[in-house]
Amino acid sequence: MGDEGSIKRDPGPLPGPVLFYNEVVIDHFMKPRNVGELSEADTDGFGLVGDPACGDQMKLWIAVRDDRIDRIAFKSFGCPGAIATSSMLTALAQGETIEAARRISDDDVIEALGGIPEKKRHCSLLGVRALQAAIEDWEQRRSRP
Ligand code: FES
Repeated sequence: MGDEGSIKRDPGPLPGPVLFYNEVVIDHFMKPRNVGELSEADTDGFGLVGDPACGDQMKLWIAVRDDRIDRIAFKSFGCPGAIATSSMLTALAQGETIEAARRISDDDVIEALGGIPEKKRHCSLLGVRALQAAIEDWEQRRSRP
């Protein structure tokens, strides 16, 4: 018999707030939509953003047809919250007009996911900012002669 008296099996209440992801968030984390990248030839806009506070990064590609987001793809070096929110962001933006996609906010993404822990709210900004950067890039490419 080992000395089980030294093993503490129930740590008791955890210190600080416990993070909890709902089933929709977990689904988008486990099976993220639109993961990958578009080829150079297919890319009309590209965005790369980072969060200096946590070191996470996000790349996002869009293909635009008739002022609508025809295809969208992302790659994230981020936490589960960043991946789930970026996945939902791409699902919301796919097929939308550029103007509608530009108005998608982090609150829209969080609402579509049915909520996210308060300490993870900032993660949803990565995808939103990457999409806005990709739209800006699309506008600049269009204005080039
Ligand atoms: Fe950095 Fe989530 S902790 S994006």
